Amino acid sequence: SFRQQIPKGLKRLPGPRGYPLIGNVLELGSNPHLTLTQMSQKYGDVMQIQIGTRPVLVLSGLDTIKQALVKQGEDFMGRPDLYSFRYIGDGQSLTFSTDSGEVWRARRKLAQNALKTFSVSPSPNSSSTCLLEEHVSKEADYLIRKLLQLMEEKKRFDPYRYVVVSVANVICAMCFGNRYDHGDQELLSMVNLNNEFGDVAASGNPADFIPVLQYLPSRTMKIFKDLNKRFNSFLQKIVKEHYSSFDKDNIRDITDSLIEHCQEKKVYESANIQLSDQKIISIVNDLFGAGFDTVTTALSWSLMYLVTYPEIQKKIHEELDQMIGRERRPRLSDRPLLPYTEAFILEMFRHSSFLPFTIPHCTTKDTVLNGYFIPKDLCVFVNQWQVNHDEKLWKDPSTFNPERFLSAEGTEVNRAESEKVMMFGLGKRKCIGESIGRWEVFLFLTTLLQQLEFSICDGEKADITPQYGLTMKHKRCEHFQIKPRFEVKSSG
Ligand code: HEM
Repeated sequence: SFRQQIPKGLKRLPGPRGYPLIGNVLELGSNPHLTLTQMSQKYGDVMQIQIGTRPVLVLSGLDTIKQALVKQGEDFMGRPDLYSFRYIGDGQSLTFSTDSGEVWRARRKLAQNALKTFSVSPSPNSSSTCLLEEHVSKEADYLIRKLLQLMEEKKRFDPYRYVVVSVANVICAMCFGNRYDHGDQELLSMVNLNNEFGDVAASGNPADFIPVLQYLPSRTMKIFKDLNKRFNSFLQKIVKEHYSSFDKDNIRDITDSLIEHCQEKKVYESANIQLSDQKIISIVNDLFGAGFDTVTTALSWSLMYLVTYPEIQKKIHEELDQMIGRERRPRLSDRPLLPYTEAFILEMFRHSSFLPFTIPHCTTKDTVLNGYFIPKDLCVFVNQWQVNHDEKLWKDPSTFNPERFLSAEGTEVNRAESEKVMMFGLGKRKCIGESIGRWEVFLFLTTLLQQLEFSICDGEKADITPQYGLTMKHKRCEHFQIKPRFEVKSSG
């Protein structure tokens, strides 16, 4: 194979030898986050593997990852040109497309502003702190009612399929100003998937690296393409409706605000970057897509841990009873009052590490990291799972223990500990929905747990083994049960 010249004084990237044509694909196996964690113990925080004929840089270790993504952020902020990514959002995705230049920057800023306006900004006409609180409170209420009804009728249920609709409704409300019923088939077919998206978009999907596989018929790839097509036309229809009822004096949601931007961009956009209308409007695809799967997965893992560790659930119940009581509902502003609950959420993120890698990055120029020469256009995997299970950072990393995040007195969350959890990426490509995601998980969870106790039917067990993907899921569990914790007062 071609051996590149290394500039004088720099080291060549270490890593395992690969087979011709397939490289290290076989060693990667079905849990690449685990095998790459093991390999990093042998080769170090900066190593190179070969997937198919393509070299991939794998980064581990919190300090090394911070050095790359934050201190040398510009060098590592690209996205690789991967076969599967071309099918996401017609190849125009803010998140997955190869663009990381001025156009990407302008779109990212637009996305951040629109998201902020319709989530954490004060709510104009209600008693809620902000729109996000209003949406989540309402959806959590619907969810509780739905789950109680299921208990009555079926005595057990799989929470995932109901949680996903509730979470999708929150992002729908922000993006499109509407919600869907739990039985809505159009929405269900889009959101209630068995990780068909996550299997293909996962880091290390061989079809992204071994070109010949792109020409072989693949069921998963077909589902993936269909799914993206369906997703885009679903959103296109909603956008069309927004255009026809658009009123610049009444901006209803994120889609409206993006349309408004299209119409006014000539007025306030610098002349050197002109975004096409399509590149502006399709931002809503990225927000919707990123906004429901991640938060649903977080909540679903939370429920799995709660039923696996009933004594931990009991402690959250006690904290809620003590700090909030039963007379009023939890609010976003209660977060500092509930350190144990906060610690539980952090431990859920850390232990599950359900986004084992960030979305793949790519170098934008030749660079150097820890003394190693790293060429331009190299695909980069960032191993978040490794950081969250690093024995150098965590005591007994495989144990689920929320208390690891609490101060000695248990009255507050230890900031230094909580900042070691890596779940949203870092630096220029860091998740733009991080605070919204964290707030949503907090408010859904506290609202559910104030009123309900979760358990698994006698004789059944919840299996918390993650299944590899872009977002790792657990096996669906149909044996959930709930018990109301007290008579809920009618809200009138
Ligand atoms: C990117 C995690 C919720 C919007 C990302 C990345 C991660 C992540 C790991 C990739 C970072 C990288 O490539 O280095 C999460 C988690 C969430 C969550 C764990 C919830 C618990 C959300 C929400 C939204 C959102 C609610 C929006 C409504 C985005 C966008 C990107 C992104 C647009 C792409 C940024 C870019 O490429 O410049 N997220 N996310 N995320 N996230 Fe999130």
